[in-house]
Amino acid sequence: VPCESPNSWIPEFHFYKPNHWINDPNGLFFFEGTYHLFYQMNPDDVVWGNMHWGHATSEDLISWEHEPIALYAEPEGLGYIFSGGAVVDVNNTSGFAKSGETPIVATFTHHSKDEVQTQSLAFSLDGGKTFEKYSNNPVIPNPGLKDFRDPKVVWYEPGNYWVKAVVAGQCVHFYRSENLLQWEKLSEFGHNIGAHGGVWECPDLFPLHCEQSGETRWVLLISINPGGPNGGSAMQYFIGDFDGRDFLVQDKDTRWLDYGTDFYAGITFDNVSEAPTQRTIIAWMSNWNYANKTPDNAWRGAMTLPRILKLVKHPHSYALCMEPVKQSEKLWSSKKSSHRVFDAPIALPDAYKLEITLEKTASETLLEWRNGQGNLIKLKIDLANMCAHFDRSEAGFDNHDFAATIDVPLLASDSEFMEITVCVDTCSLEFFFANGERTLTALCFPDSAFSELKVSGNLLSVADKTEILVSPLKK
Ligand code: FRU
Repeated sequence: VPCESPNSWIPEFHFYKPNHWINDPNGLFFFEGTYHLFYQMNPDDVVWGNMHWGHATSEDLISWEHEPIALYAEPEGLGYIFSGGAVVDVNNTSGFAKSGETPIVATFTHHSKDEVQTQSLAFSLDGGKTFEKYSNNPVIPNPGLKDFRDPKVVWYEPGNYWVKAVVAGQCVHFYRSENLLQWEKLSEFGHNIGAHGGVWECPDLFPLHCEQSGETRWVLLISINPGGPNGGSAMQYFIGDFDGRDFLVQDKDTRWLDYGTDFYAGITFDNVSEAPTQRTIIAWMSNWNYANKTPDNAWRGAMTLPRILKLVKHPHSYALCMEPVKQSEKLWSSKKSSHRVFDAPIALPDAYKLEITLEKTASETLLEWRNGQGNLIKLKIDLANMCAHFDRSEAGFDNHDFAATIDVPLLASDSEFMEITVCVDTCSLEFFFANGERTLTALCFPDSAFSELKVSGNLLSVADKTEILVSPLKK
């Protein structure tokens, strides 16, 4: 069904698949100049079901080309193709390459008709264009658990082996392998720690080097559904050490990667020649509370902007921060308009980037997005109490689960200013507070695009330096 309605909310700069349902990003890797994005996809419908791996490629993480389906479901065999990762097997440890190729090995879950979940492999010898399923699948049988899925593999340099994280109910099981084919269980993590309001999904384990301290820590990302801080799906993370067998966590605090309702199942890319201080992540921009019911019903589901994850050192612990990848700068026109708080409401294009600089003396600032249809989004930034409050309950799409208000605790810093960047598309807002130390990602489906933004504040010093820059999407 082609999108004809003017209210179809087709993303202008986010990845989506026309006429299809998509959910989690899968198998992200970079090889010979190309980024590969695979994703959970229903080839027949705009609701979840009949899971295959769709595929897209990009040179810059920003403009994507659709590719043929990479992995087909086998409803009568091992099953549908659920989430997982992919690695570039540079040393051909798997032995899949016979004539000098570099194998790309995808690790995914087979979910059978009678709901048995097992871990399988597929490999590519043409750089990720086409995949062949491994003939001895599954490589890890089901250990008697209903939920056992989403394998993600990383090379463990100190031990010269691969480590695979698989979620099992509400914890993670770690496995090791020399060749990606035979797996031996190492340990379990997650009993008695972290948020447990729902099942754990889509783990991702990797080392990250901290620029500030020069130290390396291991990061474990976990999606959880339900049980997120604002209802339904969300991502929590743990920071600690991985000693080749166990994940040892730095402390018992629960940490959320994004405070919004619509940042889920995010995983990072394998083999990006990025600095060891950063990792590139993409998440699915929706929430299982309403994902099948959103009004974008000629297509359903989009990915977040690709982001860079970094480690930040606080006095007694490490945390993650996230910002859009540098390449996203090319999305924005250089024709910025600049505004002050007491200016008239700002006229908005359909898709744009906002850069807001607030003086910390502006103790409370209110941003209101409006259109001619009575829809409203509010963001209150309360710097006296260091929190932001987002409200999309009057933003359109009248659905009980969707009408969320979201609180984001902000972090104190010495800076005189609070910088906020917002990337706004036809049906989504991605907020980055204070260099991405906090982020908030939220969908919204207004009856027509928000045409104006009003900014007001309750206290502005004489030397008010509060400024709002609007950069429209380059067309
Ligand atoms: C996460 C998830 C995964 C599963 C996939 C199925 O959103 O539930 O755990 O593999 O989606 O599409």
